[in-house]
Amino acid sequence: MTTPKALVAGNWKMNGLKSAATEIMRLNDLVKEGGARCDILICPAFTLISTLCDINSEYVAIGAQDCHMNMNGAHTGDISAEMIKDLGCGHIIVGHSERRADHGEMNETVNAKASAAQSVGLKAIICVGETIEERKAGRALNVVTSQVKASIPSGAVVENTIIAYEPVWAIGSGLTPTATDVEEVHNAVRDVLLERFSDHGTQINILYGGSVKASNALELMSVNNVNGALVGGASLKADDFYGIISAYNEIG
Ligand code: PGA
Repeated sequence: MTTPKALVAGNWKMNGLKSAATEIMRLNDLVKEGGARCDILICPAFTLISTLCDINSEYVAIGAQDCHMNMNGAHTGDISAEMIKDLGCGHIIVGHSERRADHGEMNETVNAKASAAQSVGLKAIICVGETIEERKAGRALNVVTSQVKASIPSGAVVENTIIAYEPVWAIGSGLTPTATDVEEVHNAVRDVLLERFSDHGTQINILYGGSVKASNALELMSVNNVNGALVGGASLKADDFYGIISAYNEIG
């Protein structure tokens, strides 16, 4: 079975003003010069999506970090998947652990948001991951596979589904699981996808996220069943982010 083309995605979280557009231009130039053997995506705050889409980068796609589960209506302050699509995005991150923690989003909500994204033709990047307590209790595999099963919408297809495994304790902490631990979880996620989508499940990208940086990207991205990265802090500066992207130039 062939593996899917890798995706290296940046999650800018609540960072960046209009001036951050220069980072997309710089990233575009770095890829133009040095090449990239992976797809590249940046998910900025809602306020920047339009500005960054307007740059029309040949190499860098723009996505969103969240959406509402409904398409319109009385939901003050919220943004729908259709609005995001309207700006020119192709991806929406859903269920990031910061949304799960800060906004109490449970699998059911994540599932509904992923479904909203997919219903308008966008790809949902569904985030899952265990806390440190769950890992220490030996429950990491159980927690992650349950989240994957419960968060993928019933109408999902291979083409509009991406999973991001992000151990909560590895996000922004500088800590990463060992390559062996990453492989164990990614293999378990793959098994869930094979069960759900039969052989087509091999074609779904399973991203690893949590303290990915240029210095550890090659090791992490070389792990079996790791098909790309979801990057927070190290995606804010084009040069740092390109350091991760270029790991794929070595992997081939
Ligand atoms: P980090 O964040 O790379 O800063 O650890 C990853 C994420 O939250 O997606």
